[in-house]
Amino acid sequence: MPDTHRPLIAGNWKMNTLQADGVALATDLAELYQATSEPIFEMLLAPPFPLIAKVGEAIAGSGLSLGGQDCHRLSKGAHTGDVSAVLLADLGCRYAIVGHSERRANHGETDADVMAKAAAAHKAGIGAIICVGETQEEHEDDKSIDVVKAQIAGSVPDGATAANTVIAYEPVWAIGSGRTPSPASVQDMHDFIRGELAARLDGETADDIRILYGGSMTPNNAVEFLRLPDVDGGLIGGASLTAEDFWAVAQCYPLAT
Ligand code: 13P
Repeated sequence: MPDTHRPLIAGNWKMNTLQADGVALATDLAELYQATSEPIFEMLLAPPFPLIAKVGEAIAGSGLSLGGQDCHRLSKGAHTGDVSAVLLADLGCRYAIVGHSERRANHGETDADVMAKAAAAHKAGIGAIICVGETQEEHEDDKSIDVVKAQIAGSVPDGATAANTVIAYEPVWAIGSGRTPSPASVQDMHDFIRGELAARLDGETADDIRILYGGSMTPNNAVEFLRLPDVDGGLIGGASLTAEDFWAVAQCYPLAT
């Protein structure tokens, strides 16, 4: 189960890396993490499904966390191409990312699907990293708050706790674009999300649930986001694909705290 008391620096490798470079990346990060005495941040690697076992072997004993980029809502059955949260848990994963905007857009996943996937992760004993965030159009139409409100209401399952749930706020227009919202607007959105979680769950749980920012986070801008009071870590795509950049993002701690 996740360690809720530390900020989370999570790398979503998406559909990148082959066996050799994926294992090399994981090995480099495992060495860096292991060489850090009592790291104040948790670090998560979420490789493509076929690499999970190999990456798991590469980081064994290092303290790094392993995660899947998605999971099915059911624990087994006739679902060609899908992967259960039970198998992720069996492979040593601590988390499954669910409801990433690329899954919502490319695979038609609805809030109800995302909620069912998060519940499946909980049932399997792993944490769900539930992604929310508005599109460019919704951003331009000033609908970000309404969109995120509906996503939180529709995607966070009953029984969500700080131990089994992380929220990732990823404005779709910031992903892979090199564009980022202002730190002030990220803080406002995270504060809003925490309020919605308090209403949906309870105040104490909402205070403890980690809320990550994601979208074009790099070593150059990370500290501006990670030092915000309601930002408890980052979900990083492109900059998680080299050990140098990903480690540099994490090195914003303890400066960011
Ligand atoms: P980038 O860091 O490449 O913008 O991706 C963010 C993301 O989608 C992480 O899940």
